[in-house]
Amino acid sequence: MAMRGLGYLGLNVADVGAWRKFAAELLGLMPVDAGPGDALRLRMDERAWRISLHEGRPEGLAYAGWECADPASFEQALARLDAAGAKIERPDPALRGVSALARFRDPAGQTHELFWGAALESYTPFVSPAGVSGFKTACIGMGHVLLSVPSAGEAFAFFSERLGFRLTDRTSMGGDKQALFLRASARHHSLAIADAFPTPGIHHFMIEVQALEDLGRAYERAQAMGVPITMNLGQHVNDRMLSFYVRTPSGFELEYGWNGILVDDASWTVTEFTGRGDLWGHRGASMDAITAGRDAHDRAAGRGDR
Ligand SMILES: [Fe+2]
Repeated sequence: MAMRGLGYLGLNVADVGAWRKFAAELLGLMPVDAGPGDALRLRMDERAWRISLHEGRPEGLAYAGWECADPASFEQALARLDAAGAKIERPDPALRGVSALARFRDPAGQTHELFWGAALESYTPFVSPAGVSGFKTACIGMGHVLLSVPSAGEAFAFFSERLGFRLTDRTSMGGDKQALFLRASARHHSLAIADAFPTPGIHHFMIEVQALEDLGRAYERAQAMGVPITMNLGQHVNDRMLSFYVRTPSGFELEYGWNGILVDDASWTVTEFTGRGDLWGHRGASMDAITAGRDAHDRAAGRGDR
């Protein structure tokens, strides 16, 4: 199956005005007119939109839109889902401005969509309200999303066997808890699934800028705007993303990144990474809580410091 990564995200948010300010002034995304059924859309490239905000509660992920390369890939994916007994809906593609659309739920109850044929707005160039030079999207998708699930193993079976996601690497998060990083394109991961977080649903999503200056300037904007920085500037050990995390107006987090690695399918080998998960930095409440839990487990298991 030819997947092309995370094509779009739909979010349920309580305060659309706060999100408009957060997205435009901090993230540098371009607000555009709402589509059918949503309150605000955000552009980050040549596409008509990449993030759709729906006003409502509970806040969190409304849907993740997974892009198929072409009609044949789309139909093949639907056939596999159908054969596995998944309940598939076929909403009007005009809802998302795409050529074909299907909707289903994962084992944890999160809504996902498959589509092909996204609309372009090539004649109206993307212009970042915050002066961001550009976002890294194209054939590797708009970024990644980390979902907190009851069982990462169960989620992995679903996404790998039914949708063709490939395992890039994994980390132990203490005991039998783990995070799995799955790719659907050359991007290191488009979907991460973890069963170590207390709150189910979206933990964070990541968008990636084209230039180091874009990252640095956004970090300064976050500080100047007083937006809570949940993990400071740092670099992940697995995808080598240089990034920081902020709390969105909806409570979940956003990772603002630069320079993540791309994976070559022909040579990539799955590894398990250990330790705190970062080469440097990324200090903050989120990661410190995970690290503390993992370290306590390792000490109890007699493994000591790693
Ligand atoms: Fe991330």
